[in-house]
Amino acid sequence: MKIIKKIKFKISADGSSASGKTTASKLIAKKFKMRFLSSGILYRFCALKTIENNNKYNAKLIKKIVKSITLKKLDNKKLYNPEVTRLSSIIAKKPFVRNALKSFQKNFIKKSSLVVVEGRDIGTKIMPNADLKLFFTCSTKEKAKRRLKEFKSLDQKISLNQVEKALILRDKEDTERKISPLIKAKNAVLVDTTKLSLKQMEAKLINLVKNSIKKKYGNLQRSKLTSHKTV
Ligand code: C5P
Repeated sequence: MKIIKKIKFKISADGSSASGKTTASKLIAKKFKMRFLSSGILYRFCALKTIENNNKYNAKLIKKIVKSITLKKLDNKKLYNPEVTRLSSIIAKKPFVRNALKSFQKNFIKKSSLVVVEGRDIGTKIMPNADLKLFFTCSTKEKAKRRLKEFKSLDQKISLNQVEKALILRDKEDTERKISPLIKAKNAVLVDTTKLSLKQMEAKLINLVKNSIKKKYGNLQRSKLTSHKTV
């Protein structure tokens, strides 16, 4: 009888703001019982702590902030305030911020045999050896519509035009920065979510992940996938 050892499978999900990568990663994590990490929330946490420190930050402070991160602390609605969002992409340009967070992410990934991590540079810098790399894209109009819906559900008053402008600016900064810019890894699968319903996206992702696991391990029973908590 063939004995299958605990399987290891790592997925990177990169893409621009509101491209659907978080929703997609959470879907995958739930379906395949993988651990999930949003790297964006780590940048947001550093931004929030910087704001609480009168907008002053340096390498020493960022190291201290990163050391203090717990998964519980990342469950905070304040991390999605427009001010925090804006500052997160500004501090993300600093090498000392990226390096401190790189260690955090690498440590998280090392501890997980089944993991999906989403962000901007996961497939290129953080997990260049990921088993499956996904790269999400979506039209700006559709992204703005989706974000506006989220803001409305949080009772935040903002116009479609303002949402669109903020998205364009953040994507521009993330794509054009010198270190770890948002870029599709050569071997990443492009997923355009513009015209996909949630159901269609789910079906597409399940197919991609299943085929990719099959490619690595052959046919597996679902029970071989170890159960992990989703963050
Ligand atoms: O994904 P999210 O919108 O939460 O990310 C907030 C910001 O953090 C991004 O606009 C980007 O500037 C930064 N970020 C990054 N690298 C990552 C994840 C996020 O630079 N891997």
